Amino acid sequence: MYIIAHRGSSSAAPENTIAAFDLAVQQGADYIELDVQLTMDQHVAVIHDDTVDRTSNGSGLVKGYTLDRLKKLDAGSWFHSQYANERIPTLQEILERYSQRVGILIEIKHPKRQIGIEKAVVDIINRFAYSRHIMVQSFDANALQRVKAYAPSLRTAFIIKPSAFKLTKRKLAEYSSFADCLNMKKTMINRWWIDRIHSFGMDVFIWTVKDQKTADRMKTYHIDGVVTDHPPFFLKEK
Ligand code: G3P
Ligand code: CA
Repeated sequence: MYIIAHRGSSSAAPENTIAAFDLAVQQGADYIELDVQLTMDQHVAVIHDDTVDRTSNGSGLVKGYTLDRLKKLDAGSWFHSQYANERIPTLQEILERYSQRVGILIEIKHPKRQIGIEKAVVDIINRFAYSRHIMVQSFDANALQRVKAYAPSLRTAFIIKPSAFKLTKRKLAEYSSFADCLNMKKTMINRWWIDRIHSFGMDVFIWTVKDQKTADRMKTYHIDGVVTDHPPFFLKEK
């Protein structure tokens, strides 16, 4: 079971920063998970929200910033003053730093409001020798279909919300045409669904584990990956 550090090791360091990703690697995570948004000048920035307000000292939409201006923001002090030097990374920087060291699960955020982001992400990934260990995920099926059209061998994960959880055989067959993995909310998990998803050739990931008790429960399932804010919940026993 892959341990996937959600926005890096985000319980202990500011999410989606080098500090959080370095910590996840040190802790022995198998993958880092991160979120991407386009800047005004079409660079792919690593940030969860579509505004910079919550996770930096700036304000306004990410797409209202050029990369130069975005890079001036402090992306760590909101979490703790010791992280004041953290900056919002680009996807290119992350792949340069980590693609040979750890798996990378890239989530495309709000694709309907970010025209062209799928192609921009695939173009960056293509600069690296990608393998099973770089994946793209989204809540948006159309975005993943576009990713597969640009890069058929790039692995993808479809993130499923409970409201969409009527996994009929027809739906699973459809999902398996553009997704290599279903990433399900932890409240949706049961053994029957796990087996059924596997029978359609897809892996099962679970998001997002934030406590030891849930982590221990997840260890009893035959799942392929678990997204967590705190990798040590799982790695103590490694
Ligand atoms: O891996 C799934 C998870 O990252 C989706 O939720 O809001 O944390 O990006 P969010
Ligand atoms: Ca995410």
